[in-house]
Amino acid sequence: MAIIYKDGKPVVVPSSEPGHAPVHEPHDEIPPAEQAGVSRRRFMRVVFLNSMGVFTLGAVGTFVVMFWPKKVGSFGSTIKVGDVSQFPPGTVTRIPEGRFYLVHTLPEQGGGLLALYWKCVHLGCTVPWRDAEDGTYSGKTYKGIFRCPCHGSQYIITGQNFAGPAPRPLDTMQVTVSGGQISVNTGKITKREEAKPSDQVKI
Ligand code: FES
Repeated sequence: MAIIYKDGKPVVVPSSEPGHAPVHEPHDEIPPAEQAGVSRRRFMRVVFLNSMGVFTLGAVGTFVVMFWPKKVGSFGSTIKVGDVSQFPPGTVTRIPEGRFYLVHTLPEQGGGLLALYWKCVHLGCTVPWRDAEDGTYSGKTYKGIFRCPCHGSQYIITGQNFAGPAPRPLDTMQVTVSGGQISVNTGKITKREEAKPSDQVKI
């Protein structure tokens, strides 16, 4: 026995009745057109959700790139020090945020700019500049010295070591001058065996 629908009303039909074709329950089959509609809707939903996912990821990525804190103006990054006119020849200026001294040597000392890392090359103490003391290196006397408070290493204005246990000159950082503005890359540190005039950036 089976139930078919005629004009919207259920009609009972014996399934074994001769001459009748096998009867299918109405919910057994979904018309092809309806199936296509369901598949299309599902496909559109998947496409929409994927698009939203890609858009959200892109927006989050852009936000992170724009607002993630960058190392600007601190040790390890490039620091804008100022205009060259602020640093006349013969001056040593302490730049705490970069942990270096900006040195502008006199013409007879090379006449250029140096960024000297203030870390003593012996065991790493911070080396202060002493303007009132003199140092002698290679037969010449230099006004002002760097003297390490830990074990007494001493360096002249170019960073060249001349006394104490320091095995080599103070390290330098990369100096760039563009449009009269001085920048120092504190992430680019160079070790030296000897301080040379060619270490200095001429302005
Ligand atoms: S750490 Fe400077 S002399 Fe030893």
